[in-house]
Amino acid sequence: MSSSFPNEKLKKWFLSSKRDLPWRQNPTPYAVWISEVMLQQTQVAVVIPYFNRWMQAFPSIEALAIASLEEVIKAWEGLGYYSRARHLHQGAQYLVEHCQGELPADEKELKKIKGLGPYTIGAILSFAFHQKKAAVDGNVLRVLARYFQIEEDIAKTSTIKKLRDFAESILPDEESWISSEALIELGATICSRKAICQECPLKSNCQSYLHGLSDKLPIKTKAIKTQYLYRAVAIVKCGDYFLVKKGKKGEIMSDLYEFPFFEVSQEGITFKELQENIKLHWNLTVHLLQSLSSIEHGFTRYQARLDPCVFNCLEMSPVKDLEWLDTKSLKQKAFSSGHRRIFQSLLSLDID
Ligand code: ADE
Repeated sequence: MSSSFPNEKLKKWFLSSKRDLPWRQNPTPYAVWISEVMLQQTQVAVVIPYFNRWMQAFPSIEALAIASLEEVIKAWEGLGYYSRARHLHQGAQYLVEHCQGELPADEKELKKIKGLGPYTIGAILSFAFHQKKAAVDGNVLRVLARYFQIEEDIAKTSTIKKLRDFAESILPDEESWISSEALIELGATICSRKAICQECPLKSNCQSYLHGLSDKLPIKTKAIKTQYLYRAVAIVKCGDYFLVKKGKKGEIMSDLYEFPFFEVSQEGITFKELQENIKLHWNLTVHLLQSLSSIEHGFTRYQARLDPCVFNCLEMSPVKDLEWLDTKSLKQKAFSSGHRRIFQSLLSLDID
């Protein structure tokens, strides 16, 4: 199929229009690994500063391996899906132990590394090692489903497999890595959800464009429904100390700090009820200082509304599963993004 696919047009377009992204300046295997993991579920504009800071903080696989998990999570703070950061850390330690601190140029060996799936493996082998491999992410699925007018659900494994096979078969023998990355770029910039077909280098061969179907394809069923959460957040303060909770291993917010909260119904609860809960569950006597504005906060498949209230407490009695930390040390900790916003609004308040 590669002979009929307009690779030359695609390449010419890519080489003249590609975005100048930091991981493209020196696509070492490590830089490709980090950038591609960051780019999963996160937009390019958000990833750029994280990638730059990460490469400064952990310039090599070895540097990442010897960093503490807390430092790694802190560098990831705000990107979400924190298992990605934990896997990078574990992966770096594995590579130092088993592969002299280098990513291997071999699919079977790469599969042994935590968190590496077919897409990231394809990207590393293609962009860094220049092997003839496709890297098929959501962008490429969309481009190919439109180009070949595939009317099957691209959320289905069988369709993904078919499109992956198409992707491999259209790659040219020469400089295939340029075509691999060009397909991603095309999906990210032109053949995006709302396609800008007039600017597409492939339009004269694209079956969906030729049949007026670009805005109908691809077909993708939504697999997971959003779950709504309502949380009454108790900010309990004693002098300069706050009561916080560190997510435990295996929990959705593992290794991230949050203010403790109670799950409530959509109507929420009054500060009096929250005060009673604090007494009942943590045996702390507290007095209301201030309620803060609600914060909407989305993570994985959840959408949470956080209703924070600040309370004063006269004694720092120990509370099971919670810890008292002062402002200075809290500034060093990684928070989940909703609770980071609460912490920032706390810092701007004048409460004592
Ligand atoms: N999205 C996923 N991978 C990408 C890459 N290498 N460049 C730009 N956007 C991307």
